[in-house]
Amino acid sequence: MKINNFSAGPSKIPNEILENISEDIIDYKDLGYSVLELSHRSSVFEELVNISKSKITKILNIPDDFEIIFIQGGATFQNTFIPVNNKSLMNNISFLISGTWGKKTHSDFEIYFGNKISNYNIQDIGYENSLKDISKSDEEYLYLTSNETIEGIQIRDFKNFKNKKLIVDMSSDICSYEFDWSNLSYIYAGAQKNLGIPGVTICIFKKDFHDESTKTSYLDIKNHILKNSSFNTPPTFSIYVLTKVLDWILNSGGIKKIENNNSIRANKLYQFLDENDDYFQLLAPKNLRSNSNIVFEFKEGSKTQKFLNHCVENGFIGLNGHRSVGGIRVSNYNSITDDMIDDFLVLLEDFVK
Ligand SMILES: Cc1ncc(COP(=O)(O)O)c(C=O)c1O
Repeated sequence: MKINNFSAGPSKIPNEILENISEDIIDYKDLGYSVLELSHRSSVFEELVNISKSKITKILNIPDDFEIIFIQGGATFQNTFIPVNNKSLMNNISFLISGTWGKKTHSDFEIYFGNKISNYNIQDIGYENSLKDISKSDEEYLYLTSNETIEGIQIRDFKNFKNKKLIVDMSSDICSYEFDWSNLSYIYAGAQKNLGIPGVTICIFKKDFHDESTKTSYLDIKNHILKNSSFNTPPTFSIYVLTKVLDWILNSGGIKKIENNNSIRANKLYQFLDENDDYFQLLAPKNLRSNSNIVFEFKEGSKTQKFLNHCVENGFIGLNGHRSVGGIRVSNYNSITDDMIDDFLVLLEDFVK
């Protein structure tokens, strides 16, 4: 049976990349050994780091005054890494909260800074009111999650926060659309959705973002910059996979093409759900619907689990909504093909009938 993997992360990797990786696992670049055995102190590995940096710079059009590092600990580690490296955030940052991940980061930052941090929660006051309140707020920095993976809520119009320096968790939508860097200060993303496999987090930040205070060595961002992401043993295989995925993005026509394809697939799905709104309800407000994670459920509660069982029986996996919200979640990351969405829609349509 053909398997269609819609998992929210770790997620589908394009087949051609998998084929390529499987060859390199046996013998990398005719070196006579596996890529899994590659020393992080070899020039071959250093080249992989440099290639990844230059490819992501090209894809995202990253300006010269930004630094790129690859680090472990997942996106969750950034809840510690960012505050520890920038003490000026104390009393100087507010949060736009649009879902679960932003809420978690907000409470971790409050623990670090030991005080209450202002937040604008779109579930309480709506997006438009949040924008108005944020524009009047005093804090220099604003934190937001560009794509809340659990709720399927996406906020990617960074120009709406013109007077703020943005820190953005892009874990589930990095490299899926073009954006302007003018008010961005620090962005990060775990690789396991759009950029490969778990183990590496991509951090891109203004060269003057960090402070000079003393901290233990691993926590000091300067060490990771200075040692070109090899301060201690880095996740070599995850970084190798990252280069493959970045290559694939460029060979697929670049970010504009990827963005366009993703939005065509997402719109197909949303259109079907809207046309059948007697049966379905969505978690996200219409103006903030995510192209990366489409989250919905049947209005008739028992049908949701029945449909999810039907999906698994037919080889469609990874569609369960996050355990905290339930429902159905279609993760429409860069690697998802038109055929996968078309076949999923046929399955859904047949089930409804
Ligand atoms: C938007 C977002 N932020 C943070 C995380 C946490 O990532 P990690 O498990 O890499 O710490 C996730 C995980 O899915 C996520 O989707």
